[in-house]
Amino acid sequence: MAQSLLELLQAACPATLPMHMPGHKRNIEMAPYLKTLAAHLDITEIKGFDHLHAAQGVLREAMEQAAAVFGANHSFFLVNGSTVGLLSAIRAVTAPGDSVLMARNCHKSVYNALALNNLRPHFIYPQTNLRYQINASMSLEDIQRAIARHREARVLIITSPTYEGVLSDLGAIIALAHRHGLTVLVDEAHGPHLGLSPHFPRGALSAGADIVIHSLHKTLPSLTQTALAHVRTPALANEMQRQLAIFETTSPSFLLLASIDGCVRLLRDRGEELFAAWAEALEAFHQKALGLRHLRVLGYGKERGLQLDNVYGLEPSKIYISTINTHISGYELAELLRGGHATEPEMITPQGVLAMTGMGDTVDSLGRLGDALLEIDSRLSPASAVKLPLMAPRVQSKVPIATAERAPFISLPLEQSEGYVMAETIVVYPPGIPVVVPGEVMNGQAISYLLAARQARNTILRTRSDVDGQVAVLRDA
Ligand SMILES: Cc1ncc(COP(=O)(O)O)c(C=O)c1O
Repeated sequence: MAQSLLELLQAACPATLPMHMPGHKRNIEMAPYLKTLAAHLDITEIKGFDHLHAAQGVLREAMEQAAAVFGANHSFFLVNGSTVGLLSAIRAVTAPGDSVLMARNCHKSVYNALALNNLRPHFIYPQTNLRYQINASMSLEDIQRAIARHREARVLIITSPTYEGVLSDLGAIIALAHRHGLTVLVDEAHGPHLGLSPHFPRGALSAGADIVIHSLHKTLPSLTQTALAHVRTPALANEMQRQLAIFETTSPSFLLLASIDGCVRLLRDRGEELFAAWAEALEAFHQKALGLRHLRVLGYGKERGLQLDNVYGLEPSKIYISTINTHISGYELAELLRGGHATEPEMITPQGVLAMTGMGDTVDSLGRLGDALLEIDSRLSPASAVKLPLMAPRVQSKVPIATAERAPFISLPLEQSEGYVMAETIVVYPPGIPVVVPGEVMNGQAISYLLAARQARNTILRTRSDVDGQVAVLRDA
């Protein structure tokens, strides 16, 4: 590489409209602390600066401030993303061998926590929305059935909002789970901005979740990797602290910690004004989206107010653009956005593109996105045939995940793996949710889905097999 990483960043950043994380969108006028953070301020845990894992001084005060702003009882600053929050939280609320109820569309860190703690997951699949071919909300009835079937489970883990901004009815789900004595952990990594203003829906904290994990960096003005964990009771907070000391670095970056603190203070001091400005920028996008003829935008333009099957609600910061109704794929749309409009999206699937907005977006940036879509849309024609659904299918589990992921395996061509018990996790990026995990039985639909993903040039990650086109299955199952 001839240029240094820094040189590459210096060239790319000013030239591109970031429709991806981080949510500060490089808007240093709005969040001046982000401009100031650099090596001349980089220290370690020295006198006067407290200890993240045994906070008694400035960090403790800063975390108490965060709890007050977010309406939590206890908040923890995280410098290893929501990933470390989820690993720690799951270990805090389970004992090895426990059964857990979890949404099947959880992030891979939740699956890693299962394996690390030898847990027995009982998956609850989210509903689907076929108009957009995306995961929809969790159904209360499905959760009720899972609770009745697995009375031994003590914990429920769900993700809301999803990457595309789909919300579940957390108030009803948490009340149900609490009636049955379950501890509820909500992965709200994509919704740290929820519940803080009238412009965005309420979030998991006010719905009564026991633990809530927020990736601050995804939508709010804070540096990449910064996150928060919020916990309801002092006993849980103690256990969470113990687990964070295991999973999180012992050398937390004070630049990242200062970024979290700056973000919390900005929300405290200017939150109302900044949320209103973000909502205004989203409304400007909506006005442009009304002119789209072929591209559909979830919750925007002519799609606003549509009754969507299996969708309890949407949170408006995600702009999910579907190409299902057009002659192009999500990949082609992403290329058109990059090529003609210097715009980089957050997530691309065969059937759509996610443009992620953040508090740092403006009427100008989202107007630019709207104009780009209008220009592209004017060159599109309608789809000539109905596009096949490209949703991850359901699979059945036969062997506990923690057993299967370490058991001896053989590799087979994907096409010949039907009926075999998997020895590895296979994740398709995007959206980064496992299609199969160890112990599950590969079926024909999952094979077709993976073949289609491969043909569509999605990244397919496997945890054990290393031969292209092959998958790891249990040798002795
Ligand atoms: C739903 C969900 N949870 C957790 C994470 C992990 O977040 P982080 O990258 O902050 O560790 C992600 C990352 O994309 C995610 O999509």
